[in-house]
Amino acid sequence: MAQTSPSSDAVPAATRVIAIANQKGGVGKTTTAINLATALAATRRSVLVIDLDPQGNASTGLGIDRTARAVTIYHVLLGEATLAEAMITTEIPGLSLIPSGVDLSGAELELIDFDRREQRLHDALDGAVAAFDYVLIDCPPSLNLLTLNALVGADAVLVPLQCEFFALEGVSHLIKTVERVRHAFNPGLELQGIVLTMFDRRNNLSEQVAADVRAYFGDKVYNTVIPRNVRVSEAPSHGKPVLIYDVKCSGSEAYLGLASELLRRERGLPPGPDGSEPGPGQAGADEDGDDDAIESDVRA
Ligand SMILES: Nc1ncnc2c1ncn2[C@@H]1O[C@H](COP(=O)(O)OP(=O)(O)OP(=O)(O)O)[C@@H](O)[C@H]1O
Ligand SMILES: [Mg+2]
Repeated sequence: MAQTSPSSDAVPAATRVIAIANQKGGVGKTTTAINLATALAATRRSVLVIDLDPQGNASTGLGIDRTARAVTIYHVLLGEATLAEAMITTEIPGLSLIPSGVDLSGAELELIDFDRREQRLHDALDGAVAAFDYVLIDCPPSLNLLTLNALVGADAVLVPLQCEFFALEGVSHLIKTVERVRHAFNPGLELQGIVLTMFDRRNNLSEQVAADVRAYFGDKVYNTVIPRNVRVSEAPSHGKPVLIYDVKCSGSEAYLGLASELLRRERGLPPGPDGSEPGPGQAGADEDGDDDAIESDVRA
């Protein structure tokens, strides 16, 4: 979106819109959206999560009850409400949400006759998210018009990939879609990276999948790996990001590491302080103390 943020000392200075997408279901898109957003908010970045999935899992996982979702992204896409009208503040300081609702599942059909139907989200974001450092869009498990709107409105796409057999299947289709969107609508769209999720170190298959994905995508794959951790799966039923539910668990540590690595990569810094390759769940300490800021803020 390349809008100027009012917080001149924030890095990056412009709003960065990141679509979290993978058409495969259950790979950790929503979990990554919620927890990466929380970890970024803990570094005093202002963050907006857009729940673009009719399932509404990001809204539920951030503790926003269905009854509190009168105005949703559905109304924004149809031009019935502005982004500001749909915006809800969450209990996490610095983290706001545009909720979704079940009516969003009908949006694709309803938008068929609309002008600029692929650019509806882009147009809604334009000029409306300058107060945020990051906008994270939680996409549905499909390469449908909603995901297309996310890719057209985003600066970059982050792809969570579950460490299981067939993990790479379908990713090439997603990458081709990204290329088509770049060509037709959004020449600046970048691949932010690939994040390996639900890694199980006791399972050889996880190691093998991780190695294959790194061989294929090279340094686009984040060093930080999100481990399979039961606390991560428990947190949404409490309406909390795992970082709030249990900051000390391995899942929380990993998402703090992911935020730190993302911030470092955006500044062109190596993944670790000395360029070393940290192990699963660790991105290495941040040179300028971001890690400390993240950890102390979240723990507070
Ligand atoms: N690191 C993890 N450890 C354990 N469970 C996890 C982890 N990440 C995600 N899960 C669980 O796996 C399930 C799928 O995760 P999530 O909802 O984030 O995936 P998704 O890609 O958004 O799914 P969908 O495609 O349906 O939107 C959820 O029950 C979630 O709690
Ligand atoms: Mg989801």
